[in-house]
Amino acid sequence: MTKKYYKTKESVEEYISLAKDVNGAELIEKLKDFLPSESSLLEIGTGPGTDWNILKDDYEVVGSDNSPEFLKHLNANHPNGTFLELDAITLKTNQNFDGIYSNKVMHHLKDSELVEAVKRQNDVLNPHGIICHSFWRGEGSEIFKGLFVNYHTEQSLKHFFAEQFEILMIEFYDEFEEADSLLLIAKKREVSEIKY
Ligand SMILES: C[S@@+](CC[C@H](N)C(=O)[O-])C[C@H]1O[C@@H](n2cnc3c(N)ncnc32)[C@H](O)[C@@H]1O
Repeated sequence: MTKKYYKTKESVEEYISLAKDVNGAELIEKLKDFLPSESSLLEIGTGPGTDWNILKDDYEVVGSDNSPEFLKHLNANHPNGTFLELDAITLKTNQNFDGIYSNKVMHHLKDSELVEAVKRQNDVLNPHGIICHSFWRGEGSEIFKGLFVNYHTEQSLKHFFAEQFEILMIEFYDEFEEADSLLLIAKKREVSEIKY
């Protein structure tokens, strides 16, 4: 595998096939406890669009990915959907959202990139905006299928997010193995609350 995983037609087709039985329905149920229906929501790393398809039943969801190949797939399969080419690190959009969601995307960011991404999410969110992200649980990092994978713990998530976001929940859940994953839900702090 090369660094082009997620970027080539073949790897996108392989991922879609591997992930066909996986979805974030349980995570989205938790998000619904904090983000009212009809809210505007940006999904980062929409990939095959499985979660986007669930999210659209409750939210004004805009999908996004930094892979033109995934975007081609999304636009072809959901002609009425809105999909943006966005990188999770820079989030170059002038749009604002009530919520930001990602499922197993932010682990591709190195620590310094995650710092930038968290700041951009804070900028892009409306006041009291909600974030909901899943991560692989563990320590350190590795290269898998040519892609950087950064593992996280409850402590590391607090380290990266707690200054700009009030943590509402950090929970373990099972994806492939017991407690191999973490779900973070947090609320944007207002400027007056942030201690610089
Ligand atoms: C493991 S897949 C998850 C896809 C989808 N959320 C799901 O649960 O099936 C990771 C997705 O994140 C996208 N991605 C990886 N790094 C990204 C980045 N820096 N910015 C935006 N999207 C990224 C990939 O193109 C891919 O669609």
